[in-house]
Amino acid sequence: QRTAQELIRPQLPADLVQRGECPFDPAGGLTELSGQGRIHRIEHKGEIVWLVTGHDEARAVLADPRMSADRINSPRARKLISPELHAEMFPPERRAGSFIFMDAPEHTRYRRLLTGQFTVRRMRDLTPRIHEIVNARLDAMIEKGPPADLVQDFALPVPSLVICELLGVDYGDREEFQHRTAKLLSLHTTVDEQIKVNTDLRRFMHGLVRDKQRDPGDDLLSGLVRDTDLNTDELAGIANLLLIAGHETTANMLALGTFALLEHPDQLAKLREHPELVENAVEELLRYLSIISMGVSRHAKEDVTLGAATIREGETVVVSVPAVNRDETQYDDPHELRVDRPRGHHVAFGHGIHQCLGQQLARVEMAAGFTELLRRLPALRLAVPADEVPLRTDMSIYGVHALPVTW
Ligand code: HEM
Repeated sequence: QRTAQELIRPQLPADLVQRGECPFDPAGGLTELSGQGRIHRIEHKGEIVWLVTGHDEARAVLADPRMSADRINSPRARKLISPELHAEMFPPERRAGSFIFMDAPEHTRYRRLLTGQFTVRRMRDLTPRIHEIVNARLDAMIEKGPPADLVQDFALPVPSLVICELLGVDYGDREEFQHRTAKLLSLHTTVDEQIKVNTDLRRFMHGLVRDKQRDPGDDLLSGLVRDTDLNTDELAGIANLLLIAGHETTANMLALGTFALLEHPDQLAKLREHPELVENAVEELLRYLSIISMGVSRHAKEDVTLGAATIREGETVVVSVPAVNRDETQYDDPHELRVDRPRGHHVAFGHGIHQCLGQQLARVEMAAGFTELLRRLPALRLAVPADEVPLRTDMSIYGVHALPVTW
C-alpha cells in the first residue's frame, strides 16, 4: 500500500537524490545532470517527471499560476490510487487549513490571514524568547555532557519549543508536545506508531484551538482565533502545518549547519572571529546545504513552455533545490561554502506564492542557534570521525540523524 508521502512526492531515481559521497553536496548524479542542461525529462518507474536544475527556470516554474501545488489532487496522485482510497486517505477535515497544497485564490485567503499574524512585531517579540530557549537547551546540554548528541539535545528541541511559543502551548504541556514531535520525526517510529502520533497530535491541536477560543492570549493561534472566522478544523490544520513545516526543517538546518561548519574549519574560524557575519552565514548554509533534498513539486494545469521544453497538462515538475542552489550561472564556485558570500536569490525557502511563510522566524532561530552555540562552546568539535555521522540520505528533508559532539 502506498503511503501518503509517496502520493504527494514524485519519485526520482536514487542517483539523483541520494547524497552521501560528500555529506554536504547534492547527489553525484544530480550534479552531473545539471552540467548537461537546465530542465530534464526523466522517466522513472513508469512516471514522467520534469526535473528543473536551472535557477531562472526554477523561479519561472514557482511563479507560474499555471503550475499547481495541489499535490493531493494531482493527476499523478489520482492515478496511483482509487477514488475510494483517496477519499479515505485525505478526508476534508484532514485537508482543512493545509494551504501549502492550495492554489490561488483559495491559497491567497489563508496566506493573507497568516501573514497578518506573522508580523514584524511578533517576530521581534519572539527574538529574545528564542535566545532564552537556545541558551536553556545549551545549559542542559553542558550540564549533562560532554559528549552530547547535538540533534537530540539541541537541534530538535529548539524549533519545537519555538513553535510552542508561537502557538501558545502551555508550559505544562510542552514536554508532552516535544515528546510527540520527536516521535513524529524519529527513525525508530513504526508506521503504526506514526499514524497514532499523527492522530494524537491532531487531537492535541484541536484541544489547543479550543483553549484559545475560550481564553485567547498573545500568541499567533489566539490572533487567528480573534481576528479571523476560520473554523476549528482549519485552525487545527494550520497549527499542524506550522509544526510540520517548521520543525524538521529548522532542526536539520541547525544540526547539518553545525556539522558543515565543523568540517570547514577556515569558515568556522572566520565566523568565530566575525560573529556579525552570522546572518550571512545562515543564508550561505541554506544555499549550500539545500536540505529540501527531493525538491519542491508542482503539476501543470495546462501546457506550459519552459525554455525548450513543453510540459504537458497534468505532468509533474520537480524543482531540484540542491541543484538550483548550486547553479554556476548564479554563483561563483557554487560548490564552496563561504560564510561571507554576498547574499543571492537562493531557493532554499522556495519562491512565488508558496515561498516559506516562516522564513523570518527560521532565520532568527538559526542566527540565535549558531551564535550561542559558538559563543558558549569555543572548543566545540565532533566526538566521532566525520564519516561515522549518520546521514539522512533517505529522507526528503536531508540532514543528520545524530551529531555526536564534545567540547
Ligand atoms: C513553505 C523551506 C522553516 C512554515 C516552505 C517552502 C520551502 C520551505 C521550500 C515552499 C514549499 C512549496 O513551494 O511547495 C523551509 C526551510 C525552513 C523552513 C528550509 C528552515 C530552515 C519554516 C518555519 C515555519 C515554516 C520555521 C513556520 C513556523 C512554512 C509554511 C509554508 C512553508 C506554512 C507554506 C507556505 C505557503 O504554502 O504559502 N518552507 N521552511 N517554514 N513553510 Fe517553510
